[in-house]
Amino acid sequence: MKRKRVGVLISGRGSNMAALVEAACDPAYPAEIVCVVSNRPEAAGLEFAQSQNITTHVIDQKNYSSRESFDIALNEYLQSQNLDLIACAGFMRIMTPLLLEPWAGKMINIHPSLLPLYKGIHTHERALADGAKVHGCSVHYVTADLDGGPVIAKAEVPVLAGDTRETLSARVLVEEHKLYPKALAMVATTKFNPNSSSFRRKPESV
Ligand code: GRF
Repeated sequence: MKRKRVGVLISGRGSNMAALVEAACDPAYPAEIVCVVSNRPEAAGLEFAQSQNITTHVIDQKNYSSRESFDIALNEYLQSQNLDLIACAGFMRIMTPLLLEPWAGKMINIHPSLLPLYKGIHTHERALADGAKVHGCSVHYVTADLDGGPVIAKAEVPVLAGDTRETLSARVLVEEHKLYPKALAMVATTKFNPNSSSFRRKPESV
């Protein structure tokens, strides 16, 4: 089995990246983590990746005046690493087609809600405000539709009486760390057609 070459994109803590790195330590895992890239030099996850002898690279967003110029630089770096797949793990940027199109069908993300519920930010607060009884996380393909690409796998957690953002997010995070390695393994062993209709961009509204 040839393991898929994966780059991980982070912006901060990097606990999901660490879960992927740990899973990929098993030689039987179908993917290897080749590099970890951050848009912020202070991202705490970089230190963990370095401690695991994984190549890290920073493309500091402060040095780019437009989304497009940043995405060109990031895409150039990712292409230079001969990657098969990209895993976004707390990568806090909206991407332009300059990054999305070259990686269509090859880029996945983990989101802390049961998609299609609660796309965007503050997912735990919104679930609590709605009185949701069940919450969780999803791994999905990245498309131009923010948090709206095809879902690969989900994991549920109960919302308990007295939950706060902190207790609920911690319960979800435990599941994220199990779900993401499983979902990446699924993607790494699946042939996927990026030209399928789910990847065509929605027409702009007029
Ligand atoms: C996670 O909750 C992930 O679902 C979301 O951002 C958070 C990142 O956490 N996209 P970490 O950096 O992986 O610890």
